[in-house]
Amino acid sequence: MENHNEWTKSGWRNHTALQQPNWPDPDKLDRVTRDLSLLPPLVFAGEIRTLKEMLAKASKGDAFLLQGGDCSEDFSQVTAPIIRETLKVLLQMAVVMTYAGGKPTIKVGRIAGQFAKPRSSDTEIVDGVELPSYRGDMVNKITPTLKDRTPNPKYMLKGYHMAASTLNLLRAFTRGGYATLHRVQAWNQEFVAQSPMGRSYDRLAEQIDQAIKFMNTIGIPTDIPQINQTQFFTSHEALLLPYEEALTRIDSTTGGWYDCSAHMLWIGERTRQVDGAHVAFLKGVLNPIGVKIGPDHDVDDVKRLIDALNPENEAGRLTLITRMGSDNIGTSLAPLLREAKKEGYRIVWSCDPMHANTYTSESGHKTRNFSDILKEIVNFFEIHWAEGTIPGGVHLEMTGKDVTECVGGARNIVSEELPNRYHTTCDPRLNAEQSLEVAFQIAEMIKH
Ligand code: PEP
Ligand code: CO
Repeated sequence: MENHNEWTKSGWRNHTALQQPNWPDPDKLDRVTRDLSLLPPLVFAGEIRTLKEMLAKASKGDAFLLQGGDCSEDFSQVTAPIIRETLKVLLQMAVVMTYAGGKPTIKVGRIAGQFAKPRSSDTEIVDGVELPSYRGDMVNKITPTLKDRTPNPKYMLKGYHMAASTLNLLRAFTRGGYATLHRVQAWNQEFVAQSPMGRSYDRLAEQIDQAIKFMNTIGIPTDIPQINQTQFFTSHEALLLPYEEALTRIDSTTGGWYDCSAHMLWIGERTRQVDGAHVAFLKGVLNPIGVKIGPDHDVDDVKRLIDALNPENEAGRLTLITRMGSDNIGTSLAPLLREAKKEGYRIVWSCDPMHANTYTSESGHKTRNFSDILKEIVNFFEIHWAEGTIPGGVHLEMTGKDVTECVGGARNIVSEELPNRYHTTCDPRLNAEQSLEVAFQIAEMIKH
């Protein structure tokens, strides 16, 4: 294995990179990555370091990570109302978890760059014709024609600009008054206000409002950043390595390398080979890194990954996102936690209750059952408590829209309703109301 000191941002090219598109024109790919490397960074090293410090707190149980957003962002959905709705529900969830759970919540969106997807097969058969699989809007189009499915590197440039527009709006919303705690009640208007979850949220918002009024009354200023601004971070799966390499820059303040495509990057379950290109690339950037861990992991293999990605055992550097499934978590998680505890690893343990709870409904829709999602989360907390380790976060696929993609929840969406508003281009997401319901349940466990 190469020495850390010898790391270069292109060194991953000497390793096997799984899940890369078959780009038909390598010269065009090189031109695009060169163009990308000249464009400004999307996020800044100082922000990345702030997130890492906050995650270090989560690894000790002094904060909780809320990471969520689309499975796969869609260029056509990069609009102000849709971005605002996703941000709004994440802010609502964070308020619930912070206020009812009693711990600072670290808000990280799967947003502003989650445009590429790993797939189980390179091709699929549509109406008898074999076509390249859809790999996300940064690679090809979902329409099943050979032309649209052929990977085009220009979509990476478009993805960069879509990410920049999204980030611009997120920065405006979180700094410019939209995210102020003075507005916790206003976030709850529209459909959620009419629902059981909306009513629970309203009661909580009312209490926060009272607390702020009380501070005002006794002369404590409430026009302060802690109340009228919020910190919001971005993340995506670091899948397309030419894109990530092009956005990787040296920070002039510290001289360190940062992948400035997002604050946090994660490695998926399918690309986390310890000698593979994704690990080779991410071990050299200083961002907080997540790694998905599924039920079939080998504990020694995970230990090698931890040692490769976080040799200094720095708190906040590494988040392990376990996605075991509601049936498997009972047997799969504890041995891993025991070993990590024995080794003294500093890790943020986060629960992805989505990716191992997916099934296909009779109507042919990929879906997830709300009760399986909740069961995995509850088990996650209980197993950590039993092992004396710290449940530090959740990783959710969710949207601010009123979609019908996951069954169950307070309104008990049934499988016959899935076609009504099934809008995802990849995995099924929790809708706004189901997301809020999850937040209330998590708050109960955080304050445990
Ligand atoms: C995802 O997060 O969308 C994903 C593909 O997850 P995993 O790598 O855990 O399967
Ligand atoms: Co997904």
